[in-house]
Amino acid sequence: MKQLHIETYGCQMNVADSEVVAAILKKDGFEYTKNIDNADVILLNTCSIREHAENKIIQRLNELKKLRASKPQLLIGVIGCMAERLQERLFEKKDLVDIVAGPDSYRTLPQLIEKAQVERQAINAELSLTETYAEIYPYRYDDNGISAFVSIMRGCNNFCSYCIVPYTRGRERSRDSQSIVDEVKQLYADGYKEVTLLGQNVNSYKFENDGEMVSFPQLLEQVAIAVPQMRIRFTTSHPKDLSDDLLYVMAKYDNLAKWIHLPVQSGSSTVLQRMNRRYTREWYLDRVAAIRRILPEASITTDIMCGFSDETEAEQEETLSLMREVEYDAAFMFKYSEREGTVASKRMPDNVPDDVKVRRLNEIIAVQNELSRKKNAEDVGKTFEVLIDGVSKKDEGEWKGRSSQNKTVVFPAQNVKLGDFVKVKIVSSSSATLRGEVVEN
Ligand code: 5AD
Ligand code: SF4
Repeated sequence: MKQLHIETYGCQMNVADSEVVAAILKKDGFEYTKNIDNADVILLNTCSIREHAENKIIQRLNELKKLRASKPQLLIGVIGCMAERLQERLFEKKDLVDIVAGPDSYRTLPQLIEKAQVERQAINAELSLTETYAEIYPYRYDDNGISAFVSIMRGCNNFCSYCIVPYTRGRERSRDSQSIVDEVKQLYADGYKEVTLLGQNVNSYKFENDGEMVSFPQLLEQVAIAVPQMRIRFTTSHPKDLSDDLLYVMAKYDNLAKWIHLPVQSGSSTVLQRMNRRYTREWYLDRVAAIRRILPEASITTDIMCGFSDETEAEQEETLSLMREVEYDAAFMFKYSEREGTVASKRMPDNVPDDVKVRRLNEIIAVQNELSRKKNAEDVGKTFEVLIDGVSKKDEGEWKGRSSQNKTVVFPAQNVKLGDFVKVKIVSSSSATLRGEVVEN
């Protein structure tokens, strides 16, 4: 049997896509191998979000040159966002890449591989208005059998001025709601305990089923009812579309995780306007107030970017003050990286010097460390339901898992196993982890 190896970079959407690709190629007679040396085809599922992400892939392709030289039949493919962005340009460097496939062309990978075997180059970077891979049951070759991703929509229509995603993943489209519910039920039957519903902007999910529109809150409710024993998460929410309806559904069902990832990007309304985020600082804070009111036990996490075009010190201060006001539990923090083809790259100069970006990022990281420490300390004494997903990295005698709030909890315990939900009372905390003891299982 032909052997396939996939390396996945970037977001969770890419993890889910790699599993779709693995399913398509399995049907075509490929066997997945963890061992790259055994592979006949190696696919890198790539990310374009920042320059650094792309540089990493180029470096990886250069590393793979040796393997490629030692195995004349080996095919190397670049798939995903970087494939979509660079297309034929990926063939320019000799002997690096044989196959290029964008995010909507994975069904044609069997043909692309066949073509590349003969012609050494094959590409399909066509975007689609309808492809959702709805009926393909992903081959989850590398997960822990406990927690799975389920893609509910693809693409993005938001066109934040800095962002490459609408160009690499195309227009937004929602997947058939029934196929989502069916997949989640199948996962439950297969022994999974948790699913994360994925989309670039899940709040704008909508699908017409038998003449009736299914919105995201409705979909979430259908999923919550279909698998009451499973824990359901979702990501990512765009603040402009976060409705009270959604929060009420989250409050109503115990199996809906009390965690909201709500990327803010900046705390300054002027920067948000330049970013085309379509909300203001005040709107965002109102949404946070709604979460606190309707879902008081929820954790809130975010993405923050510093050094966007024309960003002033005063605007940076607004980001720091918003962080303190919201008190995020955790955050992903980035320096702005200009992406060719975006509105910002055409009209807004990347004019904050790198040393200033670095300093601002460090300020943001310092504030977040302080906040994470504080928020985690507030959890001491409380009891959380933890889904066990592995053993602690630091101490193999301890278990680790996640709370509904998506926080990592470590604890010692006997008579429990991977995939169990256990009640853990928190006894101590750091900025990264909670430590506790089992009170009931
Ligand atoms: N530069 C830096 N960070 C970016 N992100 C998106 N585009 C860029 C960019 N051009 C960040 C945003 C987004 C997260 C996934 O990546 O914070 O929410
Ligand atoms: Fe995911 Fe965006 Fe990176 Fe594409 S560019 S892999 S959508 S984070």
